[in-house]
Amino acid sequence: MKSHGIWVIFICFLLGATCVVQEELEVAPMEKRELEALYSTIQGFAGNWWNGSDLYPDPCGWTPIQGISCDLFNGFWYVTSLNIGPIHENSISCSQKSEFRPQLFEFKHLQSLSFFNCFVSRDQNPVTIPTGNWEKLSGSLESLEFRSNPGLIGKIPTSFGLLNNLKSLVLLGNGLTGEIPPDIGNLMKLKRLVLAGNSCSGQIPDIFSKLSELLILDLSGNSLSGSLPLSLGSLTSLLKLDVRSNNLEGNLLNGFGNLKNLTLMDLRNNRFQGGLVLSIQEMYSLEELALSNNPIGGSFSVLKWENLQNLVILELSNMGLTGEIPESITELRRLRFLGLRDNHLTGNLNPKLESLPCLNALYLSGNNLTGDLKFSKQFYGKMGSRFGAWDNPNLCYPVGEISTSQVPFGVRPCHQEV
Ligand SMILES: *[C@@H]1O[C@H](CO)[C@@H](O)[C@H](O)[C@H]1NC(C)=O
Ligand SMILES: *[C@@H]1O[C@H](CO)[C@@H](O)[C@H](O)[C@H]1NC(C)=O
Ligand SMILES: *[C@@H]1O[C@H](CO)[C@@H](O)[C@H](O)[C@H]1NC(C)=O
Repeated sequence: MKSHGIWVIFICFLLGATCVVQEELEVAPMEKRELEALYSTIQGFAGNWWNGSDLYPDPCGWTPIQGISCDLFNGFWYVTSLNIGPIHENSISCSQKSEFRPQLFEFKHLQSLSFFNCFVSRDQNPVTIPTGNWEKLSGSLESLEFRSNPGLIGKIPTSFGLLNNLKSLVLLGNGLTGEIPPDIGNLMKLKRLVLAGNSCSGQIPDIFSKLSELLILDLSGNSLSGSLPLSLGSLTSLLKLDVRSNNLEGNLLNGFGNLKNLTLMDLRNNRFQGGLVLSIQEMYSLEELALSNNPIGGSFSVLKWENLQNLVILELSNMGLTGEIPESITELRRLRFLGLRDNHLTGNLNPKLESLPCLNALYLSGNNLTGDLKFSKQFYGKMGSRFGAWDNPNLCYPVGEISTSQVPFGVRPCHQEV
């Protein structure tokens, strides 16, 4: 079936005439149901003052709505993308009473749905995500995003697990609570799962064995507890794993060694324990490893750190690490940030650290390092306040070799015996 517009142009071409009626007739056809679903859905979010048929008589044609995209299917326009919230100046903004209307689920080809800063007040207008009807969007929906909606409360609906074409599920910075529904483990096409910055609780369900395409997993900033599920080890495509700032505990996983493409692993601010696992030394792609603020304990030297040649950021502060700083750290040529604050590290500081070409932050305070600092004065000049070694009572700097302005803060000169 062809659209009216094309038909009119065709006739005009045959007659060789200029057509004044062309523009008028070129309003592309849209099913009434689709058009009314669009008007009603937006009105639910924007408020009753928003009158779509007045303001936007042809929303997929000559009166486009900011944040709405359409596409032609069999000669009719359908809404493919609906973005609600103040992203651009003339975007659809939500009212104080914004609500989900059932018409949201009538779109036949909706691929992308996003809400930004729409449900803003938990006190004045708390809104829960509708639990039913999501299956109606399952044939088309690929991306579902709720970002920065503190007034969006309640649980993550189980029925999200029916959206089997979903590639991206982002529920970032909302007021969601309750457990993560295990049904999400059915979304086999998922590439991005972000539930960060909510108040989800309970254990992380052991649901990752079928999510072999997942690239990004971010569950940070919730109240998740229990240990890491073993099926995380089957996420062989994963690039980014972030579970920082929860109440997670238990041991690190042997399965980490399967995550050969992982570039970022952030487990900070939890209660993990049981020492560093050897599997970490098989994560060859790691660029950022952050495990700080966990009572992990054990020796710093157990790993072959030299395997992790891509490491740029290594943050291991406040972990109860013992022993010396292993020489293998000095082989990490790309290292820029080394954080080892507040551990129980001992021994002398290897002057070879200075030869790391990219290193520009080295934090060692709050350990029990001993002996003379043997870095050159250029090193202190380059590092400035990004070298921290205070609270190491048995560490000292050689007097006379460093200018007074570059004396490392809180470190005593060597000749003064305590
Ligand atoms: C929009 O305005 C038209 C007339 O301008 C009116 O007929 C219609 O009922 C209004 N629609 C809504 C949903 O308020
Ligand atoms: C890891 O990354 C490489 C290079 O980008 C890619 O070819 C490979 O398929 C990835 N491995 C997995 C298991 O996804
Ligand atoms: C620090 O190390 C010294 C000797 O290297 C040892 O005598 C001292 O007990 C250690 N202090 C702490 C707090 O572990």
